[in-house]
Amino acid sequence: MTDLANRRILVTGSAGFIGFHVARALLEQGEQVLGIDDFTPYYDPRLKEARNAQLENHPGFTLARTSIADAESFGTAWRDFRPQVVIHLAAQAGVRYSIDHPQSYIDANITGTFNLLELARHNPLDHLLAASTSSVYGANTDMPFAESQKTQNPVSLYAATKGATELIGHSYSHLFGIPATFFRFFTVYGPWGRPDMAPIKFARAILSGQPIDVYNHGDMVRDFTYIDDLVAAIIALIDAVPGTDAVPGDSLSPVAPFRKVNIGGGNPVKLGDFIDSLERAIGRPAVRNLLPMQPGDMQQTYADIGLLEALTGKRTPTSLDDGIAAFVDWYRGYNAA
Ligand SMILES: NC(=O)c1ccc[n+]([C@@H]2O[C@H](COP(=O)([O-])OP(=O)(O)OC[C@H]3O[C@@H](n4cnc5c(N)ncnc54)[C@H](O)[C@@H]3O)[C@@H](O)[C@H]2O)c1
Repeated sequence: MTDLANRRILVTGSAGFIGFHVARALLEQGEQVLGIDDFTPYYDPRLKEARNAQLENHPGFTLARTSIADAESFGTAWRDFRPQVVIHLAAQAGVRYSIDHPQSYIDANITGTFNLLELARHNPLDHLLAASTSSVYGANTDMPFAESQKTQNPVSLYAATKGATELIGHSYSHLFGIPATFFRFFTVYGPWGRPDMAPIKFARAILSGQPIDVYNHGDMVRDFTYIDDLVAAIIALIDAVPGTDAVPGDSLSPVAPFRKVNIGGGNPVKLGDFIDSLERAIGRPAVRNLLPMQPGDMQQTYADIGLLEALTGKRTPTSLDDGIAAFVDWYRGYNAA
């Protein structure tokens, strides 16, 4: 352990968009972090390498370049590090990609999370925190989406695998007393973001004068969450270990130290307003190519963040214009480098 070390925290998916930001924030507050990532080629691995290179500058960081779907190498890395807290962010993400590449969702999300739960079963932890998604709300139409709603109507395999990890996680939490929090993230954006998501796709197109594909003719609403707000919420939740005491509006299981928590901005934005904000930050107009709804997409997402606030205190989200401006600054700098 280095002098900086406080807790030993394992972050899966540390070279990914969210994992990188979470690991960096933990390192900056003096934690010791083991990152696990296998740099999958879902999008340009050079972006993952660039994120990872920043983490490697911290003395408290170690990387295990391995797949969580490989029980043996994952287990060796875990046992060598002996984590007290695990933040599980590795996954095959993306709604649309799951239509043509279903197997990668089963391997990373189902097998990988199962391997992780087996390790947590045999190596007790203070707290397991794992990423699920707002996509589990699927075809639900009651807005805002609250953790108390049933999530039996996924509209993509991605959502179905994430919902399955919540269920498997609950069973392990119940059977083996693993304190577990499953987050449901709502459309996260910001610097170092994912190239398969709208902000980068749109920024790239606007800067090069190409049209942007706007699905459902622009009639889409997303509860965009700025990355720094998400990271602050995740770190605050590390200490909100599910026990037996429920807070108001809690999703705490009656039989396990297990809860689900939405992490969103709580402030849904129309796709058109999001594009307007990008145009302002970039200083160029977008050419909008209006298209029909894509299979697997949800028309609207809107997070009820009452439980998050009950657990971590009232939050003031970053405004869309501020978040987009920070994203565009990063995007320009990264591509100029
Ligand atoms: N970004 C969002 O808006 C959003 C919304 C809802 C949920 N989520 C969830 O948050 C988590 C992080 O998402 P992200 O946006 O950072 O995605 P990302 O794709 O940038 O990061 C995921 C990381 O996991 C790694 N990975 C994938 N399969 C692996 C495996 N088998 N073994 C080891 N590493 C593996 C990838 O290489 C990648 O670096 C995911 O669980 C995702 O489903 C993200």
